[in-house]
Amino acid sequence: MEMKTIGVLTSGGDAPGMNAAVRAVVRTAIFKGIRVVGIRRGYNGLIDGDIFEMNLRSVSDIIHRGGTVLYTARSPEFKTEEGMQKAVDTCHKEGIDGIVVIGGDGSYRGARDLSLRGIPCVGLPGTIDNDISSTDYTIGFDTAMNTAMEMVDRLRDTTQSHERCSVVEVMGRRAGYLALQTGVAVGATSILVPEVPYDIDRDIVARMRKTQMSGKKHFIVVVAEGVGGVQELAKEIEARTGIESRATILGHVQRGGSPTVRDRVMASQMGHQAVELLSQGIGNRVVCFRGDKILNKDIYEALAEQKEFDFNLYRIAHEISI
Ligand code: ADP
Ligand code: F6P
Repeated sequence: MEMKTIGVLTSGGDAPGMNAAVRAVVRTAIFKGIRVVGIRRGYNGLIDGDIFEMNLRSVSDIIHRGGTVLYTARSPEFKTEEGMQKAVDTCHKEGIDGIVVIGGDGSYRGARDLSLRGIPCVGLPGTIDNDISSTDYTIGFDTAMNTAMEMVDRLRDTTQSHERCSVVEVMGRRAGYLALQTGVAVGATSILVPEVPYDIDRDIVARMRKTQMSGKKHFIVVVAEGVGGVQELAKEIEARTGIESRATILGHVQRGGSPTVRDRVMASQMGHQAVELLSQGIGNRVVCFRGDKILNKDIYEALAEQKEFDFNLYRIAHEISI
């Protein structure tokens, strides 16, 4: 089918680099002579008809900004038959022939459902969690890792001065990718992730005692939010070791900030590929990063894939934090 107009939206939790992706989508489309409209607040914008014309200058000055200029939302209404029908009606009314959806697995499911109803969609992986099964990398992950690392470096200063233990929660929803990378980067004594069951005595207390014997006086325990319970854990560590412990939840600061080079470049390439696909009338695809290549695959296949946790890196972290 001929693509005269494509829409672009961001959905789910925002991620640094989403703006760079929006910019690439808009510029590539215009380069190819395709009209582009922005859809505000994820799928809510499709339901409410919150649509606006975009031009080359609509995306000036955003490549370096965190967040998303299109705003984002989680839209429970979109999951209902009525909501979905309203979204399809808006596409017909606005003459939207295809949509680039930037978000996570949930947003991909929405893109799949719209594609099924005759609106070809291409998904771009945007989330700080890196928890999308079909891709090794998601836009926002690098920036979030660097932010979390910098925050924990700051914590280390005060942890070291007081000879304490800091128990730090990093985001990641139900996955431990962000926690693992951050934990390795900050040299954490222990890293707790949902993918690996833990035992407080074996995996934290014994490790602290052992490193204490070789002269270590402060400790950092990185905990994925999918494990949670950092306040209780800090109390428990203090009770079992006698070492004063504090809990810190990094929270939403991890979602903000200017995107790193990696996120900007990845988002630019992925946005470009999404429009290449749509311009050829190809929808129901997601863009992914595998090995060192940007590829695309069928949304159904993408959603059916299982993502592997990097147990090897986890083991390395364990072996070198002694
Ligand atoms: P993410 O895209 O980051 O995984 P969510 O899971 O919150 O974030 O999904 C974002 C939005 O995608 C939801 O608010 C909803 O509108 C839509 N969505 C999620 N799951 C489905 C589904 N199973 N079917 C249709 N739409 C969905
Ligand atoms: O998916 C990104 C993420 O930041 C997760 O790491 C976290 O679990 C969730 O979103 C938080 O969502 P909210 O912004 O709705 O609090």
